[in-house]
Amino acid sequence: MMMPSSVTQYNGHIYGNFPSYYDFNPSGKRTELLRGVLVREVLATHEKSAFGYLDVGCNDGTLTYDISRLISSALPEGTEVVTTGVDIDPVLIERAIKQYPTREQITYEWKSGDILDGILSENGGESAYRPSPGTLSLISCFSTTMWLHLHHGDSGLTAFLREGCKWLKRGGLFLVEPQENVSYKKANRRLRQMKVVGEKDDKSDPNPTVHQFDLENLSLRSENSDVTHRIKEIILGEGFVEIKIDFERKDGDGDGDGDGDGDGDGDGDRKDTRTHWNRRLMLFRKN
Ligand SMILES: C[S@@+](CC[C@H](N)C(=O)[O-])C[C@H]1O[C@@H](n2cnc3c(N)ncnc32)[C@H](O)[C@@H]1O
Repeated sequence: MMMPSSVTQYNGHIYGNFPSYYDFNPSGKRTELLRGVLVREVLATHEKSAFGYLDVGCNDGTLTYDISRLISSALPEGTEVVTTGVDIDPVLIERAIKQYPTREQITYEWKSGDILDGILSENGGESAYRPSPGTLSLISCFSTTMWLHLHHGDSGLTAFLREGCKWLKRGGLFLVEPQENVSYKKANRRLRQMKVVGEKDDKSDPNPTVHQFDLENLSLRSENSDVTHRIKEIILGEGFVEIKIDFERKDGDGDGDGDGDGDGDGDGDRKDTRTHWNRRLMLFRKN
């Protein structure tokens, strides 16, 4: 896909930078599902007086804020949580800065930029986010892997996952909510319906510099490759173990798939291992 010159230039939110995201995917639903396992694992693995948390693709910071508070409430009194939220959309980060300033025992650092800038050698720049290896206690990446994958390909997604694994300390936690195979086609369909992108080489393309994503070039996600499974394999390959998440489901609605069309993408898994948008939440601990 060819890139627009500015993240916010087009109305189609081609990075998944939806401005009212938490109106249709409320943060509280995922926080509640994760409460039990996060409290248990954070307590089991935490040793020092500060807890470094990174949320990749933090949008306007709402879920990042809720998860930070959950962690802070689980840790011994006096433990400082240092939360960094990174998002490619500067308008969303401006909102996060206004909505969620540092308070009490949680320090918030909101950064706008592409998370891959600090990872891929061709990008870089002084402001790119580059934590030191072995320093973070928790990284979360909720519903963002597909956007990293669509814009940076197999190598970009793989580089992000491997680098994230390095940033974590021993005992650190990697929490991932990946979009599944079906979401990729839906992302293209949505952009076509919104007339943000056109078919390749389509002369009636409403914006000839932006084309739909070329899914053929992605081998981690293909007819024979389940991207969720491949993401898990990459993280496990970096010396992590998977932690089973036991959801305490209270909401009872499990038929969405996060694409707003209500048709779900279930593959027969029990609903109680998925979010209300029928997405998998996967948690890994570094050995
Ligand atoms: C679908 S939203 C998910 C928001 C939030 N993580 C959640 O699940 O509640 C995806 C977010 O990832 C951000 N994003 C996409 N590509 C990114 C990149 N390369 N670096 C940083 N953020 C990115 C978008 O701007 C958007 O806010």
